[in-house]
Amino acid sequence: MNLILLGPPGAGKGTQAELIIERFNIPHISTGDIFRAAIKEGTPLGVKAKEYLDSGQLVPDEIVVGIVQERLKQNDCKSGFLLDGFPRTIPQADVLGEFLKGLKQNITAVINIEVDFEVLMARITGRRLCRNCGAVYHIQNKREKTEGVCDHCGGEIYQRDDDLPETVKKRLQVYQNQTEPLISYYSEKQILKSFDGQEPIAVLFQKICDALEG
Ligand code: AP5
Repeated sequence: MNLILLGPPGAGKGTQAELIIERFNIPHISTGDIFRAAIKEGTPLGVKAKEYLDSGQLVPDEIVVGIVQERLKQNDCKSGFLLDGFPRTIPQADVLGEFLKGLKQNITAVINIEVDFEVLMARITGRRLCRNCGAVYHIQNKREKTEGVCDHCGGEIYQRDDDLPETVKKRLQVYQNQTEPLISYYSEKQILKSFDGQEPIAVLFQKICDALEG
């Protein structure tokens, strides 16, 4: 199964990704996680990406597409993958389509998670993550059992630098201008499946599974 997760910042893509990859046994390819790991390691990619992430802008298409293509060529993607946060622009989607055509593959479904913009700000500013395994928490609706310690791996819980209100506003604008057009793009290809992202996490996950398995 070759899947794409689409939705604004804070829609719950990362949260659903954790569940989907376990259920369908496919690798999780999150471009945001790739950039954050590169920033943490201080690689040349990380140095370049940091200014874009910190200001809430998209990393230029020519940088992102090369990274995703390299990742999709790896063996673990042969029997499927879940792309989270890619594509984010029409040119990225066009390149992905052509690249998969070359591999005689296609996208099985695009899972579009919809959430009202007023809800997103509270979700993102309350989000906390594990520095080690990336597990997602929230100060109100998904707390870790022991404060500051990840339930899964014991890693340290932290807040992302780009989750501060001013940067979140910018990210939401960028989503509306550059990423939202992908909804019509994939709808026209008849592979878009849209879901109400304001349902509880488990209910939403069940609906996604029903749609993919049905
Ligand atoms: P990225 O890391 O992809 O961030 P994003 O798309 O902005 O998405 P988020 O990670 O903020 O949110 P999410 O939808 O995963 O929500 P989550 O599950 O955490 O990208 C970061 C940056 O990298 C970009 O700004 C850009 O600079 C760059 N970048 C990445 N990809 C790129 C690309 N292709 N091209 C160019 N640049 C790129 O949930 C949020 C919170 O809500 C959590 O606390 C969670 O517990 C809670 N929650 C989740 N679901 C529910 C629910 N159903 N009910 C209640 N609470 C919920």
